[in-house]
Amino acid sequence: MRNVLSVLQPTFCVSLFFNLCLISIAAPITRYIPSEIITLSCGTSDNLKAMDGRTWIGDVGSKYRLKEVDNKTSTIINFTAQSKPPVDAVPYMIARKSYFNFTYVFPVTPGPKFVRLYFYPGDNLRDSTVKDLFTVQAGSYTLLTNFSASTTINDTSQQTLSIEFCVNILENEQQLNLTFIPFPSADNGFYAFVNGIEVVFMPNYLYYSSPVGIGSYYVGQNRPIKILSDMALETVYRLNVGGSPISAMSDTGFFRQWSEDPSYWLGDEAATPHEPSLMLKYSVIANYTAPDDVYRSAVSMGPNRSINLLSNLTWGLPVASGFNYLVRLHFCEIQPEITMVGERPFIIYIDNQTAEPNADVIMWGGGRDIPVYQDYVVMMQKNGVDVKSTLFISLHPRKETNAINDAILNGVEVFKLSDTRRTLAEPNPNRTSSLLPSSKGMRHESMLKNTIIIVTGSGGGFLILLTLMWFMILSKRWKTNSYGSCGSPLSKYCWCWPNPSKSKSKGTQASLAPDEFCRHFSLGEIKTATRNFHEELIVGVGGFGNVYKGLIDKGTVTVAIKRLNRESRQGVCEFRTEIEMLSRLRHVHLVSLIGYCEEEGEMILVYDYMANGTLRHHLYDIESNHFPWKERLKICIGAARGLHYLHTGAKHPIIHRDVKTTNILLDQDWVAKVSDFGLSKMSVDNTEVSTMVKGTWGYLDPDYARRQKLSEKSDVYSFGVVLWEVLCARKVLDQKLEEEQWNLANWATKCIDRGSIGQIIDPYLKGKIAPKSFNVYVEVAEGCVREQGIHRPTMDDVMEKLRFALELQENEDAAIDKLNSAGGIIYPNLLSYHSVVYSDHVSEMGSESGLTATTISESTRMTRDSGTIRSSEEGMRDGPIEIEDSTTH
Ligand SMILES: *[C@@H]1O[C@H](CO)[C@@H](O)[C@H](O)[C@H]1NC(C)=O
Ligand SMILES: *[C@@H]1O[C@H](CO)[C@@H](O)[C@H](O)[C@H]1NC(C)=O
Ligand SMILES: *[C@@H]1O[C@H](CO)[C@@H](O)[C@H](O)[C@H]1NC(C)=O
Ligand SMILES: *[C@@H]1O[C@H](CO)[C@@H](O)[C@H](O)[C@H]1NC(C)=O
Ligand SMILES: *[C@@H]1O[C@H](CO)[C@@H](O)[C@H](O)[C@H]1NC(C)=O
Ligand SMILES: *[C@@H]1O[C@H](CO)[C@@H](O)[C@H](O)[C@H]1NC(C)=O
Ligand SMILES: *[C@@H]1O[C@H](CO)[C@@H](O)[C@H](O)[C@H]1NC(C)=O
Repeated sequence: MRNVLSVLQPTFCVSLFFNLCLISIAAPITRYIPSEIITLSCGTSDNLKAMDGRTWIGDVGSKYRLKEVDNKTSTIINFTAQSKPPVDAVPYMIARKSYFNFTYVFPVTPGPKFVRLYFYPGDNLRDSTVKDLFTVQAGSYTLLTNFSASTTINDTSQQTLSIEFCVNILENEQQLNLTFIPFPSADNGFYAFVNGIEVVFMPNYLYYSSPVGIGSYYVGQNRPIKILSDMALETVYRLNVGGSPISAMSDTGFFRQWSEDPSYWLGDEAATPHEPSLMLKYSVIANYTAPDDVYRSAVSMGPNRSINLLSNLTWGLPVASGFNYLVRLHFCEIQPEITMVGERPFIIYIDNQTAEPNADVIMWGGGRDIPVYQDYVVMMQKNGVDVKSTLFISLHPRKETNAINDAILNGVEVFKLSDTRRTLAEPNPNRTSSLLPSSKGMRHESMLKNTIIIVTGSGGGFLILLTLMWFMILSKRWKTNSYGSCGSPLSKYCWCWPNPSKSKSKGTQASLAPDEFCRHFSLGEIKTATRNFHEELIVGVGGFGNVYKGLIDKGTVTVAIKRLNRESRQGVCEFRTEIEMLSRLRHVHLVSLIGYCEEEGEMILVYDYMANGTLRHHLYDIESNHFPWKERLKICIGAARGLHYLHTGAKHPIIHRDVKTTNILLDQDWVAKVSDFGLSKMSVDNTEVSTMVKGTWGYLDPDYARRQKLSEKSDVYSFGVVLWEVLCARKVLDQKLEEEQWNLANWATKCIDRGSIGQIIDPYLKGKIAPKSFNVYVEVAEGCVREQGIHRPTMDDVMEKLRFALELQENEDAAIDKLNSAGGIIYPNLLSYHSVVYSDHVSEMGSESGLTATTISESTRMTRDSGTIRSSEEGMRDGPIEIEDSTTH
């Protein structure tokens, strides 16, 4: 049932084993054999074999190392004696370090080369009182200035750094000189070092423009521009959009590394079409341009045209401002139903400017399965003194009526271009994200990501949240008439209180936050927690600003810190209102706001950090899923309580709108917490809220999608899908399966009809669920996903029934334990579900819970007889698109 490929993904191989895993899985197809490859391990005389099988030659005594000027010698640093060798030994375990300039001279033929520098500032480099700070020059180009590898890397999640450049060797040069220059200081306080240097020859026009042809489009200038041979390039991003990381060995021969894109994805949800074994036709571009896997996976919008037309597919890539960037977008139409020009036309925006008014991948390639790419150049202007900016890449469907109103992107490469002074160096040693740390713990990273998405909500959801706050404030205003005024243009809707910590929680229930619960942080504390907003701690980026992982209270408490952009539209009043609202929504099963900081124009929110990530992660994102049934029940009960609180705990019901397993987080004690109220809506006066449909495919209430009337029962539907997901441990939409199985909720309902529900459960659970517990659980899950909201139970019912299922499990476990003291509880393997059996449970339960069990049973039959449980499948007929949730994109 589970997707075998996802189990095999290299994501789970960390650190040392990363390369090894890839080698054993993906057979690399080398399409280009560079005429020369130099891999130089600095600081050794040995020839060393790396994990990937490549040999690195030692620089000592090699023809490449130039003697140091004036006999000022460099030293060799050997890390191999360190107790924890956390990184690949080659080339990272040895380095050359010097307080004086040193140069490598590579005799090379003219033409463009990849030059990769590898750095590992291990402990004996890092702990010293002197610091690494240096410049690297390649011939007449400055590649790095005021660069400090240890500062750049100073974060636990990343231990090594590799930076890739492209430089062109001119006809009259015949040499590539790489010079390392420590930052000058009177007392030799700074040194330069390097662990490895790699030089790989590339074809003339892989990235540089051919003399024939018009070159790239210069966005915003409405003219072509060429990447000329006198420019040097630095690779800043190389992303396999919608796919998995690709290792150097699986590249087409250039040893480039490709990473995944979700960290830069700014949307709510997206589809990720995959055709893992598709044969591609390279009829337009060279077959070595990018690995096949880049073109075989993509991100697109999904099947709902009307929703697509309201949004963009957007990625935000942090870059240094003040440079031109080459943006290469890779495309390939891999979805079988797109075959003709005009079926999927879209607009490409780069840096919020139109780069391509009529993108059409079939038109560019001349057919399906034909990879193409498009190059754009954009100037990222300096915005005042800010040296950082974000390069946005957005795709928006064109409105043609006969088109499917969607967009697609398969890969992205972004290069910084040297400026007129032939420099790529950023004036600031705090560099933006750099290329592909080779030893990054991938799993760790995705856990962080999961946590953050919750905390931040989503760019679009944020505005909705503001709207929601207005609702709340307006109603408050009518009741209390106690709103103040503040300078914001929104102030007539804005209820400000002098200081959140003094506000009274009027009109709220006792379980709501005590005032002192929302803590005020000074900017100093926040800066300490985030090491002055160190970019290495950024775990999420959104339209509102960045989210950092931070440590507060002398490093004892880990938190997620959301720093709102100064230029974001949110004013001080709204900020305070958000604090007010979020701090009122406090419950053991909701992710809580810990505090805030409002100082020097900064607006910062501090949230709980959830150590165990998302529920989904533990269900089927990891290989070894041994997640006991009782634990699953407890988590479901917790999440149900959180939702019940949202629906009933505040004055007006709050509808979450995006209940899914990635929005149910687990803290260090495995307590479930519902998160991401980014899409929440408050239903004032119990009327159903009419609203634009939002949510995640597979979880979306068909009744809501149809009528666009939102009620608490929409959350109940989504929660029912969660219950099925927990039982079956599979994706809610999985188009790799047979068509009738795509949509989990529909498939489960069908299996109930056929009496085969016991066969679709998570294989791990087989024989571990007590039949009575199973029946109650299936009954409630089935009730939640009924077609019509009125036939679904309330969250209160759901919560009580799940508790009952847990109780039954515990009782039966105990009974069997007594009989069979040898342990090893085993229940019948194939559980089937009959509502008749359920009636017994009703009597067993007695009347204390006062449930609507009987009515549910009746309406079950009714709904099933009328055969209407079908609708959300219709939305998927548009094509086999694998729809994932915002965690992965
Ligand atoms: C590289 O360095 C050598 C030795 O300093 C020098 O002779 C040569 O001209 C340099 N080549 C280039 C292309 O800068
Ligand atoms: C790295 O961070 C630690 C604190 O987290 C700090 O003490 C140390 O000085 C930093 N090192 C460098 C080279 O910035
Ligand atoms: C790539 O293209 C070249 C020439 O265009 C061809 O000779 C080569 O066989 C192709 N390689 C693969 C693996 O398709
Ligand atoms: C899509 O992005 C572009 C560029 O940022 C923007 O101008 C446009 O308004 C966006 N469209 C939608 C529907 O969000
Ligand atoms: C490098 O740092 C020094 C001292 O901070 C500064 O004066 C100099 O301008 C910097 N160089 C560049 C190219 O930014
Ligand atoms: C550019 O587009 C992004 C993403 O749509 C948005 O967050 C940002 O505010 C826009 N910037 C400007 C200056 O319009
Ligand atoms: C797409 O979304 C719109 C609301 O934006 C809704 O009316 C429509 O039913 C949806 N279509 C499908 C096929 O789900």
